[in-house]
Amino acid sequence: MIVLGIESSCDETAASVVVDGREVLSSIVASQYDLHEEFGGVVPEIASRAHEQHMLPVLRDAIAQAGIGQGDIDLIAIGHRPGLIGSLLVGLSAAKALAWSLGVPLVGVDHVHAHLYAGMLGRDEPEYPALGLVVSGGHTSMYSMRDALQVQRLGSTIDDAIGEAFDKVGAILGLGHPGGPAIDRLAQEDGADDRAFDFPVSRLKKGSLDFSYSGLKTAVLYEAKGRPAPPALPGRDPLPAPEVLPLTHERMRDIAASFQRAAVRALVLKLGRAIERVEGCRTLIVGGGVSANTLVRSEMAGFASEHHLELIIPRLGYCVDNAAMIAGLGARLYQNGQRDDLTLSAIPTTAC
Ligand code: KG4
Ligand code: ZN
Repeated sequence: MIVLGIESSCDETAASVVVDGREVLSSIVASQYDLHEEFGGVVPEIASRAHEQHMLPVLRDAIAQAGIGQGDIDLIAIGHRPGLIGSLLVGLSAAKALAWSLGVPLVGVDHVHAHLYAGMLGRDEPEYPALGLVVSGGHTSMYSMRDALQVQRLGSTIDDAIGEAFDKVGAILGLGHPGGPAIDRLAQEDGADDRAFDFPVSRLKKGSLDFSYSGLKTAVLYEAKGRPAPPALPGRDPLPAPEVLPLTHERMRDIAASFQRAAVRALVLKLGRAIERVEGCRTLIVGGGVSANTLVRSEMAGFASEHHLELIIPRLGYCVDNAAMIAGLGARLYQNGQRDDLTLSAIPTTAC
């Protein structure tokens, strides 16, 4: 079965051709980083307009690179949730138009679920039950997986997602957008000391399977830009704000490494709690943009080996947003009986 997948939930316009849910014939991604850089984050209106411009060329490239004709497509898979509504609508409209004009079925795919599927591209089915982890710009969640399609959420972030924390710390350090890859590079520089700053690792209440990254982000902000002055005591002169040390390259490097260590330690801590909830767990499945992070990849490998699990983590190209994961999961959903039609809507939240 040849599936054309389409993805436009945030700031990447992507299309991909995947055979039988596994074999990727093409995966084209047009990013918009440069358009959003000066704003320090994704501007929804700019994102929708850029999708509009990129969609047709990206679709043409995906079909051409796969070496197929439009008539060979058996199914259109579309990431229709979660995401920015204007961005989702561009991809969804293209998907509906193609499905209708080619006379082929359409399936809607949840983007977060697709991140969990990304590691299965190009390989055999792993063993279940599995513990799943999505670490992206919008989500940080753990799942109990009975198979690739039956996914039950165990916990998720109560405030910022881990990728959002990487991006905000990147902005605090003046590293541009998105900050994640830049922090990853900085933390790997010679001499980077990941214990230079004792940033908080959020545990939340005993046994909690949720995450929190806003405290860590604020701790980094104070370290980099200084703490606010303490409140003045009644009848006393206000105290001065503590002195701020200059943000030298060495300090930036150490802040990046220490932040990254704290952020990733929280993942390992919560996975350690979650694995108790997946009886007979055989596999650890990780996905999402932050699964491209060097420390995340090595810590996930360490966790899997300590718990005798097989680790499924996407190739670097399938960690960040892409349409191969949409096409791959779309095929599986279709084989499982899912059918959608032209009334399929764009939904801002995930069902996972
Ligand atoms: O999955 P994704 O492309 O989009 C969402 O679904 O949110 O994830 C994007 C996130 C951004 O926050 C980006 O900074 C982060 O993934 N990211 C990284 C790395 N590469 C991408 N974070 C840390 N280290 C990386 N190497
Ligand atoms: Zn994503």
